[in-house]
Amino acid sequence: MKNIKNPKRHETQAVHSLDRVVFTVPDLKEAENYYATFGLEVKKRSNAVDLYTFGHNHCWATILPSAEKKKLQYMVFAAYAEDMALIGERIKQSGYPHGQPHPLGSNEGLWVVHPEGFYVQVIEAEKSSPSAKSEPLNAPRAPVGKGNAPARSVIQPVRPRRLSHALLFSAKVAQSATFFSDVLGLRVTDRSDDFIVFMHGIHGSDHHMLGIVASEGPGLHHLSWDVASLDEVGLGMEQMLQAGYTKGWGVGRHVLGSNYFFYSRDPWGSFSEFSYDIDFVPSDHDWMMGNHPQNDSFYVWGPLVPEEFVINYEATDAVV
Ligand SMILES: [Fe+2]
Repeated sequence: MKNIKNPKRHETQAVHSLDRVVFTVPDLKEAENYYATFGLEVKKRSNAVDLYTFGHNHCWATILPSAEKKKLQYMVFAAYAEDMALIGERIKQSGYPHGQPHPLGSNEGLWVVHPEGFYVQVIEAEKSSPSAKSEPLNAPRAPVGKGNAPARSVIQPVRPRRLSHALLFSAKVAQSATFFSDVLGLRVTDRSDDFIVFMHGIHGSDHHMLGIVASEGPGLHHLSWDVASLDEVGLGMEQMLQAGYTKGWGVGRHVLGSNYFFYSRDPWGSFSEFSYDIDFVPSDHDWMMGNHPQNDSFYVWGPLVPEEFVINYEATDAVV
């Protein structure tokens, strides 16, 4: 019988989930406020902030303090126990520096350094990526003859359901994609030459658990969070605008991944995405990878893209 909870593509060894993203910011209190406003469950530790989604016991991201500007420190991917040894072999054979934990990380699992210098950890852990397409949660339609829209006066705060993906800046998009496919077993879903590459996990995953876009250097462009309806994308935007986080992009719809989006700009110039209805790649399905014109790689419809949307504050001297 097919294992619905932990689907496994047989005779392959690859990570199944983007388990956690770890980055540093100059002001943890600001991070707490921003992500609580975004609708995440923010848990404080002595010198760190962990990001959870309400009703889910998985820690999706950890934010640590630093005197420097915001910086991606390391990414944690998770694999099934039976795949760990072979992923370890792949890491050894890859020739990338490996075995040394990130100074801010734990000794658990395997460590390897990405060609652009940030660390990647692989641990054995439960699958936190979705194993089926996330269900919409639309309110029942009012009967014809009655108003169907929710009343603004009674709307509830939007709370994302889970992390969907991370988008990384990179000065070496092709090399970075090769790293993630050779070392971790991620597979390219769609790309636009070497401008942007989207990658999924082969054991069942959103259209992308990881995206890589061309820039001057490495950096974290955005973390994307799954919400339950198109209304929640719009309401998420309202939530941020009303709280004073007025910069962002959307509402719109992507071509590659198909999701509806609103990107809220965080205090450090990167983004948090409310994402609804992203495409899904089941573990028993071979997605036909497409190489798309750059014009199709971004969005179908939406407002004009603000200039700052593509600024990599981690790799340049640009000031937020
Ligand atoms: Fe995204």
